[in-house]
Amino acid sequence: MLVVSKKKSSTFTGDVLVVPVVQADDCLATLDPLFQDILERPVKNNDFSGKEGDTCLVYPDNGLSCTRLLFVGLGEDIHERESFRLCGGVVAQNIRKLKGETVGVVLDSFGDVLADAAEAFAEGLLLGGYSFDRYKKPKDDGPVPVKKVTFFAGSDAGVVRKSVKRAEVAAEIGAVARNMANEPGNFWTAAEFASFARNLSGQNVKTTILAKKKCQNLKMGGLLAVNQGSAHDPAVVIVEYRCKKKKAPTILLVGKGLTFDSGGISLKPGAGMEDMKYDMCGGAAVMAAMQGVVMEQPAQVNVIGIVPATDNMPSGSAVKPGDVITCYNGKTVEVINTDAEGRLILADALAYGVDKYKPDAVIDLATLTGAVIVGLGHHNTGLLANDDALAERVTEAGAKCGEPTWRLPLGKEYTKQLKSKVADLRNIGGKGGGTITAAAFLEEFVGETPWVHLDIAGTAWGFTEKSYIPKGPSGTGARTLLELIRSWK
Ligand code: BES
Ligand code: MN
Ligand code: ZN
Repeated sequence: MLVVSKKKSSTFTGDVLVVPVVQADDCLATLDPLFQDILERPVKNNDFSGKEGDTCLVYPDNGLSCTRLLFVGLGEDIHERESFRLCGGVVAQNIRKLKGETVGVVLDSFGDVLADAAEAFAEGLLLGGYSFDRYKKPKDDGPVPVKKVTFFAGSDAGVVRKSVKRAEVAAEIGAVARNMANEPGNFWTAAEFASFARNLSGQNVKTTILAKKKCQNLKMGGLLAVNQGSAHDPAVVIVEYRCKKKKAPTILLVGKGLTFDSGGISLKPGAGMEDMKYDMCGGAAVMAAMQGVVMEQPAQVNVIGIVPATDNMPSGSAVKPGDVITCYNGKTVEVINTDAEGRLILADALAYGVDKYKPDAVIDLATLTGAVIVGLGHHNTGLLANDDALAERVTEAGAKCGEPTWRLPLGKEYTKQLKSKVADLRNIGGKGGGTITAAAFLEEFVGETPWVHLDIAGTAWGFTEKSYIPKGPSGTGARTLLELIRSWK
């Protein structure tokens, strides 16, 4: 539980009182005199300088009633939200070690950056406390969950309260996306995506599940082809949020919900194949973002989330290299490699979404290509777009959330790599530019609608090591989408 207090932080009687400290020539200057006294010796002895990630633990014996004092370095730039988010993550890690149940955070010295500081810190704290233990026997000496966090905000308690609320929603949807991704492939199939979406329906929110029969009627040949070798039915999972305002813009979010990617007949190598349970992280981000939308009920914008969901398995009935399929929009595709399946299921979802909902903007997220890891590593999401303004918006939202993106080009030369001898398109682009040709394929299914594609194959798991990002799935995309929606004008 997160609460905000107007009291003086020196009155805090809990387990750990956290003091974020800015790195500066005199890092003591901005602190309350009480903390200055205590931190003076560590600073004089060069044990602490406020450097990002550094900590100093003290057991105070006068003037304070808390059990422990934890000074945490913010680094130099307090105008970066990321500094506070990382700081919150470091605190989460330390609290886990200290088994602190009641935590206080001193924020009353951050004046003009307070709103952002409190939000980012709370986000980092909550995201950094994440763990997935569902399939493990609980340990006797395991982590003790934090019971209560009190933010000491002085007279600005109202501002901080609002910030903390925003952070709670953002962190929750981050955790929701991580939870879905952490679920093994046998427990997270298209049916689980569907029941998650059903649970979101309610005020201003409508859930529609297009089951296999309906996909057949709608001629979603891409999704059906990928699903052909599977023991589980596919689904197109749709969550529709409509605000009260008439004539509000509509944003369409589409996420790749590939619940396990074996590669199909073009089977992947065995080593590391277990990670392909994460091939639904785009879908997880979209459904998690929809949960955020449902919680916050934005007033200015309609948001539609669509997740095409299936696994990709080899079998006697599976789609084969050389097969020709017809997608929802009538375009035919020669399947050269059954492992390039994400673009086939997205093709149907994008074309259907654009056709049915006539959105003003489309953003899709997908663990689409290994090539994006070759190009950008694990530190940037690949961004491709047919619209500069929308690309700018998504980039800005990502930057604000600590989820950086890097734009790659599109162009007719790349599209040409998708030419097929027998069909309108083939599903792979041949040598070079794998991330771009994959996006160029998707581009064929969005028409003129402004569209951004995010290739999260490098960032959905194994993302840049950060205090608030765990080792497994990062939940990337969920918070960026929520930020985009919150700031949509
Ligand atoms: N899901 C994979 C992409 C992927 C690979 C994500 C590694 C994360 C880590 C996608 O379906 C795929 O298999 N893509 C192929 C495309 C190729 C056959 C053109 C790839 O990247 O190898
Ligand atoms: Mn694949
Ligand atoms: Zn895949």
